[in-house]
Formats: sequence, C-alpha cells, structure tokens
Amino acid sequence: MFSRIVGTGRCLPGAPVTNAELAATLAASGVETSDAWIRERTGIAQRYIAPDEISSSDLAADAARAALQMAGMAPNDIGLIIVATSTPDMIFPSTACLVQKKLGITSDCPAFDVQAVCSGFVYGLATADLYIASGKVKSALVIGAETFSRIMDWKDRGTCVLFGDGAGAVVLKADASPGILGHRLHARGEHEHILRTAGAVVSGVARGHPFLTMDGQAVFKLAVQVLDSVAREVALEAGVAIEAIDWLIPHQANVRILQATAKRLGIAEDRVIMTVDQHANTSAASVPLALDVGVRDGRIQSGQHVMMQGVGGGFTWGAVLAKF
Ligand code: ACO
Repeated sequence: MFSRIVGTGRCLPGAPVTNAELAATLAASGVETSDAWIRERTGIAQRYIAPDEISSSDLAADAARAALQMAGMAPNDIGLIIVATSTPDMIFPSTACLVQKKLGITSDCPAFDVQAVCSGFVYGLATADLYIASGKVKSALVIGAETFSRIMDWKDRGTCVLFGDGAGAVVLKADASPGILGHRLHARGEHEHILRTAGAVVSGVARGHPFLTMDGQAVFKLAVQVLDSVAREVALEAGVAIEAIDWLIPHQANVRILQATAKRLGIAEDRVIMTVDQHANTSAASVPLALDVGVRDGRIQSGQHVMMQGVGGGFTWGAVLAKF
C-alpha cells in the first residue's frame, strides 16, 4: 500500500505587510531596516501577520478545508491528523486536536502535533506516509501551521523581518500505486543553539527568552549543505535521478538558500517553486504553502516528481519525494 497526495490547501491571514510597511512600523520603535536590505539579503518582499484573534489552529483548519475540498473528501473521511507547528495555540491540547474539533471530525481518529520547527511538515508527511503504508489508516491530513510573528523579538532586525504567519495542508490517501516514493528525516541536537526560542512557562511565568534567536550565517551554511545531501539520499532511495525531479520545493527561508541548493543539485532555478518573496519564512507552513501555490497555478502536473525539503531548528532536516 502506498500514499498519494490528493488535495492541497492554504490559508494566509489578512492583507500582506510589505517590507516598506514593516520598516515604517519598526522605525517608530527605533529599529532601522529597509525594503532594499530585506530584498537583497533574503528575497522577501512581504509577509502575512495574523491578528491577535487568529490562532495557528484557525489557519490550519482553513488550509485543511481547502485541501479536503480539492480531494473531494468530507472531514470525517480523515483517518489521522498531524499538525506540524512550533507556535501551537496552547501548551495542550495539541493543535491537531483543536483542528479536529474545528473541522467537526467525530470519528475519534488519532490527532497529534509534530515539533520539528521548519522541518515539521516534512516530518509529518513522512510519518503519515508510514501510517498509510502500514495499512493502519487509509487517509491523513498533514498540516503545517504557524504564527511565528508571536515569537519575534521586534527589536531584533536580524530576525523579525524574516518570518511570517500562515498554514498549508495536504490530504494523503491510500493508493495501490505511489504516491510518496521515499523520504529521509534527520536531526543533530548538538546544533540546537544556532536557531531557537529558548523560553518556557514555569509556574505561570515565562522563563528564559521566549523569542526566536538565530546565528544566521551558521544556519545558512548548514541549511545549504543538508538540503543538498538529503535530496540526493531520497532520490537514490527512490531510484529517481536528480535530473528526473520536475519541481524542487525547499523550505522557504531565504531566496539565497533556495538558489544555492538548486545550484548544488544542478536543478534549474525555474524548476524551484519559490514563495518566500510573498510569504516570508513561515517555518513548518512554508513547504505546504509553496506546494499549494504550485498545484493551483498549474505548474505541478499529474505524473511529475516533486521533492519537498525541510530544514530548521533542532537542528532538523529531511525530504520527501512524491509523484503527483
Ligand atoms: N535591516 C538592515 N540591516 C540589517 C538587518 C535588517 N533587517 N539585519 C541585519 N542587518 C545588518 C547587521 O546589523 C549587519 O550590520 P553591520 O555590518 O553594521 O554589523 C549587516 O546587516 C550584516 O548582518 P549579517 O547578519 O552578517 O547579515 P547576513 O548577510 O548574514 O544576512 C541573514 C543575514 C539574511 C539572516 C543571513 O544570515 C541568512 O540568510 N541566514 C540564513 C538563515 C535564515 O534564512 N534563517 C531563517 C530561519 S532559519 C530556517 O528557517 C532554517
């Protein structure tokens, strides 16, 4: 038994905030940046920022509804819900359980969150594939949903211009033919300090530093290296040549990371789906957001090979190769 992606969906909150608008807001609190700096170093032009009343589970549920509609399935047809997020609504219940409730799913299907930061969606997709391939479930919703704007230190211009909010979702269904052709997941905890949000709630009080911090150059170097190696690993495992990959969807952190990854792999830039300019870095949501854009604008066609790649805090990384 194999699993196949039969629906995709996305949700972006409100109106986009352009670099110029963000720069003007930051300037009011003495933080200096510019559209030119952000574009040149990151390729980002705008991002979405959720209003206070919108949570990650709201974004996740809307993205899931769109994916279910494309799949022609009802919420209660779903056998498993996995939400990848590092910005859950609350400590518990999981965002996946809140999504189950918001979708009105009454089948008692399992629902849980995956926390692998920007690799979360790929971790969730690989996990759901194994559930389906084992015959345990016949369908799954895998969602990446984030409200990273809430863990930004708006005084740190080196990070706060990079991230945005949003959610992307896929519906996976059991099928006699693949589908998901292969995946590999990795983590190396020794690099936990280069990208983290080192805060916790203790006795009702935030302890530590509950804002994202990053060693940008260390992240950049590692990201390019592992995105290259994991793509090769998965392609080899699946028996698909790198040249046969129709679309590469790396984690959307920074245009320069995407370009460097494509170059190392020898994949032409017009075969890379890039949405970081429009969405900024939405962590676990970035890959399913880009995937949905590629599916809905008609670039990703039936029978094509799509390599999805995550990399992020932990340090974690992984890739999933799917045939559409
Ligand atoms: N606006 C204006 N100037 C800025 C800004 C800003 N928003 N941020 C930093 N600067 C300044 C710095 O203060 C510094 O000034 P100085 O030379 O006077 O000290 C200068 O720009 C260069 O700063 P660096 O941090 O060295 O800039 P760099 O060229 O490394 O670019 C960046 C920073 C874009 C973060 C880069 O390191 C990068 O792309 N890293 C990859 C990490 C990434 O994209 N992370 C996203 C999350 S990780 C993930 O999702 C896997």
